[in-house]
Amino acid sequence: MNSYKIAVYAGDGIGIEVTREAVKALKACQEVFGSFALEFTEFNWGSRYYRETGKITPPDYLNTLDGFDCILLGAVGDPANIPDRIAVVPLIEMRQTFDQYIGLRPATLMPGIDSCLEGKEYGDIDIYCVRENSEGEYINCGGRFKPGTEDEVAIQTNIHTRKGVERILRYGFGVAAKRGRHLTLATKSNALRFGMTFWDDVLEDIKGDYPDITVDKCYIDALCMGLVQKPEFYDTVVASNMFGDIISDLAGAVTGSIGLAPSGNVNPEKKHPSMFEPVHGSAPDIAGKNIANPIAAIRSGAMMLDHFGYGDAFRLIEKTVVDTLKERKVLTRDVGGSASTAEMGDYIAERILKAK
Ligand code: NAD
Ligand code: IPM
Ligand code: MN
Repeated sequence: MNSYKIAVYAGDGIGIEVTREAVKALKACQEVFGSFALEFTEFNWGSRYYRETGKITPPDYLNTLDGFDCILLGAVGDPANIPDRIAVVPLIEMRQTFDQYIGLRPATLMPGIDSCLEGKEYGDIDIYCVRENSEGEYINCGGRFKPGTEDEVAIQTNIHTRKGVERILRYGFGVAAKRGRHLTLATKSNALRFGMTFWDDVLEDIKGDYPDITVDKCYIDALCMGLVQKPEFYDTVVASNMFGDIISDLAGAVTGSIGLAPSGNVNPEKKHPSMFEPVHGSAPDIAGKNIANPIAAIRSGAMMLDHFGYGDAFRLIEKTVVDTLKERKVLTRDVGGSASTAEMGDYIAERILKAK
């Protein structure tokens, strides 16, 4: 039997609460299928570790994680106690060091869920954001000159490499081929005349390799408007690191709740572990109250099983989530119910077990 070592990095705030529920669902799947074994190792990195040591993680944490098959992340960030620019470093470092260059961020309006947009029904909104996850606006390159003086200068550099842009676009075409056969590139080549025109050019260079996929380009500002005004139009959206970040919260909102939105940070070559995590953050406003929606975390766990090659297990979790939402019996408050995080997680895990 194949066995997988999973690093559980629950992190901060509701990350801890929702990851617990994702692990329950994964254990239930393991029992139902019996064809794979999941070995979970928990790390208390983040604000808990910071309180003990003054650091977010141990210095060799990347080496430690590299020995795992996958990472299940909850969320990072404890803005009341640790500056965010420090607290989120491990998240960005993991994506870049492990070359998790594909950011997978699906957003579908699920049954039984009200969009904040009127008149939308199950399946009307079905967007798959493919986010460049390893370079672009997020590289740690820049500095402050003459800090604290009136001559202070801040520089933050972006890089967009041909390798990086081409591989994410080609991956996006692959995703589009399995879906609605339409790819939208989020751009800003009217104002960002070097970086974003480069994305446009690479798209022009390669799109002929995918003759059955229609392509359009949309400026990120207009795309934000379009995702609200005509979300049905969009299928697969490829975006740079920061544009993909923005689109994914917006897509989460129009599909009912960011608490439903999963993600994968994937190294397709499997040279390093991939990481699966909800799109949302540590939500300090609701942390510790046992009211966060665990579905984004549970669905992220499902994406991890799909990454391991267990499509059936992925589909079982997705179906269980869909059935649970459709039923509208056990729901957290962000989607109109009153169940707790643990009640929702227990209910989904029990339903998965019934498939045995
Ligand atoms: P957030 O995603 O944590 O929260 C935004 C809003 O959505 C809040 O009102 C929150 O209550 C709600 N929300 C989020 N997840 C929910 C869930 N599962 N169920 C119900 N409601 C949910 O974003 P933020 O407030 O901008 O950031 C909080 C902290 O998280 C910051 O430190 C930020 O840097 C960090 N962050 C981390 C990640 C990550 O780990 N991947 C992602 C985003 C933000
Ligand atoms: C996300 C988050 C991160 C990002 C932050 C916490 C650095 O917003 O995963 O969407 O911008 O990628
Ligand atoms: Mn984000």
